[in-house]
Amino acid sequence: MVSLVVPRKDCKIKSCYVHVPFCKKVCSYCDFCKNYYDEQVVSNYLDALKIEIKNNYKGEVLNTLYIGGGTPSCLSRDNLKELFKILRTLKLSKDYEFTFECNFEDITEELLSFLKENRVNRLSIGIQSFNKKYEKVLNRIIDKEKIIKNVSLSKSYFDNVNVDLMYALPNESINDLKEDLMVIVKLDVAHVSTYALIVEDHTKLKIDKIKETNEDLQNEMYYEIIKELSKNGYEHYEISNFAKTGYESKHNLTYWNNERYYGFGAGASGFVENKRYDNTKSIKNYISGKTIVYEEILDKKTLMKDEVMLNLRKTSGINKETFKNKYNISFDKAFNYKDLKLKGYLNENEANVFIPENKLFISNEIIIMLLENII
Ligand SMILES: C[S@@+](CC[C@H](N)C(=O)[O-])C[C@H]1O[C@@H](n2cnc3c(N)ncnc32)[C@H](O)[C@@H]1O
Ligand code: SF4
Repeated sequence: MVSLVVPRKDCKIKSCYVHVPFCKKVCSYCDFCKNYYDEQVVSNYLDALKIEIKNNYKGEVLNTLYIGGGTPSCLSRDNLKELFKILRTLKLSKDYEFTFECNFEDITEELLSFLKENRVNRLSIGIQSFNKKYEKVLNRIIDKEKIIKNVSLSKSYFDNVNVDLMYALPNESINDLKEDLMVIVKLDVAHVSTYALIVEDHTKLKIDKIKETNEDLQNEMYYEIIKELSKNGYEHYEISNFAKTGYESKHNLTYWNNERYYGFGAGASGFVENKRYDNTKSIKNYISGKTIVYEEILDKKTLMKDEVMLNLRKTSGINKETFKNKYNISFDKAFNYKDLKLKGYLNENEANVFIPENKLFISNEIIIMLLENII
C-alpha cells in the first residue's frame, strides 16, 4: 500500500468530468475521443456510463461538474434525458458550477430550458471562428449570423457562457484575427477560451499536409488576443483563458490547482487520491466494460512536479503557502528557481511565483527548465 504524501483533506474529490464522445460531423483538426453519432451506440454507451459512475462515485458533494465531448448537445432528447437521469446521482454543492458543452447549431430555446431545468448553469460553446473562409479547411459549419443569434439566446438563459476561439488557422492574418476578436467582444460573454491550431497526428489536416502557422505570427496573434480581451474587461487568468470578474472556470481551476477529480466516460482521465488514470478511447471496449487502460500512483516528487507544471498555467502561478501546506516543504527548498528569476522567466511577490506576461508565450519551455531544477 502506497502511503499518501499529501494530507487526505487535499485529496477530497470536488469535481467530475463526464465525456460524451459523439459528433454528427468530424472536424479536420480534431483528435479528441469521438465517434460518429449513432442512436443505439449512444444508448449502449449511457448504460456503460451508468455502471462506471455507480461503481466508482463515493457520494462526494461536488463543486464542479463538466460534461464535455465530442458534442454532448447533439444527443437525441431521449438520450439526453437518460444522461441527465444518470447525472442526477451526482450530488452538487450549493454554489456549484455545472458546465455543458454545446455546438451552436444545436442551441434552441427548448434545449436551453431543458438544460436549465437539469441543474446546468454554465454553457461552453465551440465557435472557433466567424470567418466563412475556414469552413472547408476545418470541415466545420461556420455561420456568423446563427452563431451570434444562438450565443445571444444562450445568454438570455445563462449568465455564465464560455466561447472557444481558435486562431493561427491556415492563412489567417492578424486582420482576420482582429475581426474575430471584434465579434467576440461584442458577444460580451463571461468567459473566452482561446486555442492556437495544432495539426495533430491522424487528423485530416495532417493527411492534407497543412502546416501550423510560424511561431512569430502565432506569438503576435497571442499578444493581440491578450491586448484586445484585457482592454475589454476580461481578466487574463490562465495562459489561454480569459474571464470577466468572478467567472473564471471553477472546473478548469481544479486541474490547474492540481486538485482531485473523477473522469467518467470513454477518453476521460481522472485523479483520485494519488492515482491518475485514463479510460479507454475505444467506445466498443468502454461499452463492454473494459474501462481503465492506464493508471499510475504518483510519488511525492511527481506530485510536486505536476503541481508546478499545472499551477504555472495560471497567471497568478504557484502560491508558496499552499505548496508548503500540501508538500510539507517550502517551494524554494523543493525547486531551485534563482536562475530563471534572474533571466526574467519567473517573477515573484510575497505570496506567489509566476511567469511574467511577456514570457507566457514560452511557458512550456520555462516549465521544463524549472522541472529540471527539482532539488
Ligand atoms: C473538447 S473540444 C470540443 C468542443 C466541441 N465539440 C466543439 O467542437 O465545439 C474543445 C476545444 O478544443 C479546441 N481544439 C480541438 N482540437 C484542436 C486543435 N487540433 N488545435 C487547437 N484547438 C483545438 C477547439 O477550440 C474546441 O472547441
Ligand atoms: S472539434 Fe468538437 S465537433 Fe469537431 S470533431 Fe472534435 S469534438 Fe466533434
